[in-house]
Parts: sequence; C-alpha cells; structure tokens
Amino acid sequence: MSKKVGCILIILIFLIASIGIVMAEGKGNARKGKYLFRKNCRTCHCDGGSAKPLSPIDKTQAQWDEVFQNIDKLSCSQEWAKLKEKDRNDMYAHLWGHAFDSPSPAKCK
Ligand code: HEC
Repeated sequence: MSKKVGCILIILIFLIASIGIVMAEGKGNARKGKYLFRKNCRTCHCDGGSAKPLSPIDKTQAQWDEVFQNIDKLSCSQEWAKLKEKDRNDMYAHLWGHAFDSPSPAKCK
C-alpha cells in the first residue's frame, strides 16, 4: 500500500516539474531579455543613437505583439537576425511585460 502511494507521489512530482519547465520556456526570461535588449538594440535606439529612442513603455502590449510578428518589415530586421529564437522570446518577455499598458511599465536608462 505505502509503496503504491510512494510511486504515485514520485510520478506526480515529476509531472509538476516538467510542466513548470515547459511553461518557463514558453514565457521567455524577462531578466535576460532586458540585458539582450540593452546589448543589441539600445546601441541605436537610445538618446543620441541613430534610430529613435525605444523603451518597453513606448509601445502597448498589442503594439509589441505586432512588432514581433512583423520583424521582417522593420528597417533594422538584419539586426534581429543575429538573435536566436530563444533570445527573441526573452526580449519579448521583457518588452511586453513592461509595456505602456502593463502593470509595471518601464523606461530603459
Ligand atoms: C544599427 C542600428 C539599429 C539596431 C542595432 C536596432 N535598430 Fe531598430 N531601427 C533602426 C532604424 C534606423 C529604424 C527605423 C527608423 C527609426 O525608427 O528611427 C528602426 C526601427 C525599429 C522599430 C520600428 C520603429 C517603431 O517605433 O515602431 C522597432 C520596433 C525597432 N527598430 C526595434 C529594434 C529592436 C527590438 C532591436 C534589437 C533587436 C533593434 N531595433 C536594433 C536601427 C536599429
């Protein structure tokens, strides 16, 4: 009897752990995204850069969605090409999570 309970517990823990990993991957890592955005985008998109300044707060969540769905149409799409799919997800988590209409809008410094 107790052996059976132990087995079920182990299976349950395993299931919960794998669900957690899958969800974390789908969401992207906002902290890493902030770093990636600063490193890859702010060189141009900052005060005094060659493009107009861009911070998470400069767009709504819907507008960030549109940007990430139409990367090819941006004038700087070749800059994005250097980023891996995962890096883009991380940046999306950062930008979307701190967008103008998010609970915690943020401006880059
Ligand atoms: C080599 C300089 C450069 C880099 C690096 C760069 N961009 Fe751009 N980006 C531009 C220019 C130039 C434009 C078009 C003119 C403008 O918006 O000032 C532009 C346009 C955009 C636009 C459209 C403008 C708008 O307000 O909708 C977005 C969004 C954008 N870039 C995001 C990014 C992101 C995110 C990164 C990092 C992956 C990035 N850019 C990297 C130069 C750059």
